[in-house]
Amino acid sequence: MAEWFSNDEFWARFEDYMFTPARLEAARAEVDRFLALFDVQPPAAILDLGCGPGRHTLEFARRRFKVTGVDRTRRYLDKARAVADAEGLAIELVESDMRSFVLPDSFDAAINFFTAFGYFDDPTDDLKAMRNLHTSLKSGGRLLIDVAGKEIIAARYQPRGFERRGDTIVLEERRVFDGWKRLESKWTMIRGTERYESSVILRLYSGAELESLLLQAGFAQVELYGRLSGAPYDQNAERLIAVARK
Ligand SMILES: C[S@@+](CC[C@H](N)C(=O)[O-])C[C@H]1O[C@@H](n2cnc3c(N)ncnc32)[C@H](O)[C@@H]1O
Repeated sequence: MAEWFSNDEFWARFEDYMFTPARLEAARAEVDRFLALFDVQPPAAILDLGCGPGRHTLEFARRRFKVTGVDRTRRYLDKARAVADAEGLAIELVESDMRSFVLPDSFDAAINFFTAFGYFDDPTDDLKAMRNLHTSLKSGGRLLIDVAGKEIIAARYQPRGFERRGDTIVLEERRVFDGWKRLESKWTMIRGTERYESSVILRLYSGAELESLLLQAGFAQVELYGRLSGAPYDQNAERLIAVARK
């Protein structure tokens, strides 16, 4: 069966749901917080893996970093390119699957924001993607990965969700399966008489599981946070954020 994330129609239909104006705008503050955590200076080389429409790629370029955005979805890379051209920003964009993208010893820092990880059926593919990131970082380089942690999902689990954005309604029906290893969210979009349904399947990582995956991928040191502010990964966490050093 085809992997859910290889469905271009999914990324097109749900683009406005995922990348609202507020979320696009939030990238500026997220990059501020990232820079406070990482202390890297331009023109350091940054890899934005699973960059989507380039929210962070573009923001790093505006701040004169040398930035490479990698994503499997052509449509999003085209959007990022259009903004970069309009603003006269130099960015590199690569259409690639994270299981195959690797550029040895090339980046001072790498980011993987907004749950752009945990999509593969086979957990060894997750390890492969993390090994590629490790290889692509320079010695001493660091990775930031931001996902929905298993502890957070468990504490706030709701079988159903509902959002209205303008004339569009999106319903989410969720189920945990595979012994809490994975979560399926069935997204149904309804707009007038139009209806589109697709499932998002995520491998859920606890803090400890993400830390061991990163160590297994070769990273020397891993720290966990619950917010980009650097707050601990604890009962108040909003996100699971791992920072790993090569
Ligand atoms: C939820 S979006 C996050 C985008 C971006 N990081 C952000 O913060 O706006 C997930 C992204 O991962 C990309 N993606 C999904 N599977 C991928 C894969 N196997 N390799 C590379 N990119 C992938 C999708 O195309 C999508 O742009």
